[in-house]
Amino acid sequence: MEKLIIKGGNKLEGNIAISGAKNAALPIVMASLIGEGRSFLDNIPRLRDIDNLVKILEALGAKVDYKGNSLDIDSDSVNLLEVPYKLARKMRASYYALGALLARYGQAATTLPGGCEIGSRPIDLHLKGFKALGAEVTIEHGLVEIKGENLKGAKIYLDYPSVGATLNIMMAAVKAEGKTIIENSAREPEIIDLANYLNVMGAKVKGAGTDIIRVEGVKKLKGTDYTIIPDRIEAGTYMMMAAITGSNLYIDKVLVEHVKPLIAKLKEMGVGVEEDIGGVRVIGNKNFKSVDVKTLPYPGFPTDMQAQFMALLTQAKGSSMVIETVFENRFGHADELKRMGADIKIDGRTAMVKYTPLSAASVKATDLRAGAALILAALVAEGETEIRDIYHIERGYEDIVNKLQGVGVDIKKVSE
Ligand code: UD1
Repeated sequence: MEKLIIKGGNKLEGNIAISGAKNAALPIVMASLIGEGRSFLDNIPRLRDIDNLVKILEALGAKVDYKGNSLDIDSDSVNLLEVPYKLARKMRASYYALGALLARYGQAATTLPGGCEIGSRPIDLHLKGFKALGAEVTIEHGLVEIKGENLKGAKIYLDYPSVGATLNIMMAAVKAEGKTIIENSAREPEIIDLANYLNVMGAKVKGAGTDIIRVEGVKKLKGTDYTIIPDRIEAGTYMMMAAITGSNLYIDKVLVEHVKPLIAKLKEMGVGVEEDIGGVRVIGNKNFKSVDVKTLPYPGFPTDMQAQFMALLTQAKGSSMVIETVFENRFGHADELKRMGADIKIDGRTAMVKYTPLSAASVKATDLRAGAALILAALVAEGETEIRDIYHIERGYEDIVNKLQGVGVDIKKVSE
C-alpha cells in the first residue's frame, strides 16, 4: 500500500499545468466505438480510470494503443457486446458502453453499477432514455441488457439534469432515425466536449451546453482525431491549494469559463484571481473570509469541488455553511478533516464550518475528491500528515506528486 506524506507550511510558487479532463475523456473514449475505423484522441490524462477503460475496450475487441497522453483506437474489430463483470465493477463509467454499443451494434450489456462512497447513484434516467428511443431494457441478476436494432428519435425529459444520463442518451441517439430532443439536459462542459467529438465524427448534435439538446440521426459515424478539454476540477483543486496557503500561483491550460463558479467564490472570500487566456493566477493571502456555498448542476458550484472547498473553509475567518444538493452522502471528508482539528458540524446535507488551525494526523482518502481535500488541509497543517488509500486520488489527478513538488510542496509518496 502506498501513502502520501506531506509536510505543511510551504507556499506554492510558479506554474502548474492542467491535464485533460477525466470526465470528458471517459465518455469520449467509449464513444470512439460508435465511429467506424480509427480515432486518435489526444490530451488523455494518464489515470487509473483510463487504464481500466482501455482494458474494457480491449476486452470488447477494439485495438487500442495508449502512448503518453494519446489513444489510438480502432473500433472495427469489436466482437463482444457485454462489458466483462470483472472490469465493469471497477468503474461506474463502464455504463457508457451501453449508449455507445447500442448506437453502433444495436445491443449492449454491462453490470448494473452499485452505489458508491458518495451516494446510491441509480441509472434509471439513462434507462428511461434508451427505452424512449425504442430499446428493450432487461435487468437480470444485476446485468443490464439493452437491445434495439432500429432506434427511433424521441422526446425525452430528464427529471434531473444528470450528466451521465445526458451523455449516454446523446450517444445512443446519434444514429436513431429522425430527431431526438433531450429536455432538462445537463449543461456541463463535458457534455459539450462529447457533442463536439460526435459531430466531428459526422453526428448532428445541437444545443449541447444548454438544457435542450437536439440530435438528428445519421446513418453512420467515422472515427476521427480529437483533443480532450482541460480538467476543470483538477484546475479548481490547484486554485484552492493556492488559496489555502496564501500563495501566488499560475494555473496553466485552463478554460477560464469552466471555473467561473469557483472564481466567484474565491473573490467573495477576498482571494485575488486574475483571469488570462488559457490560464488563471491566484493571488492568495492568509486573511480570507468565510462564505456559504451550495453545490448545483453546472453552471452552479460543482459537487466535485465541495470537499476541497470545505477544507479551504476550515481556514476562512468566520463560519461558513456548505450545502450539498447533488449527492446524498458526500461529506465523508468531514470526519477525516476533523481528525486534523477542523471544526465541522454536519446536519443532513448541510455542514457548518468554523475556523480553527489544523494539525497533522494520519488520515485516509474516502473517495477521490475527499482525498484532494485532505491534501489541501495537509498543506497548512502543523507537522507531517500521512494520507492513506491514495488509489482514490490517483483515479483522478494525473501526476499529482510531481506537479506539487514542482511548485514547492514538501510531498512524497512512500510504500508501506
Ligand atoms: C458525473 C461525474 C461526477 C460528478 C457528477 C455531478 C463522471 C464520470 N462523473 O457523475 O464526478 O460528481 O457528474 O456533477 O462524469 N441520478 C439519478 N438517476 C440517474 C442518474 C443520476 O437519480 O439515472 C442522480 C444521482 O444519484 C445524483 C444526481 O442524479 O444524485 C447527479 O448524478 P449525475 O449528474 O448523473 O452524475 P454522474 O454522471 O454519475
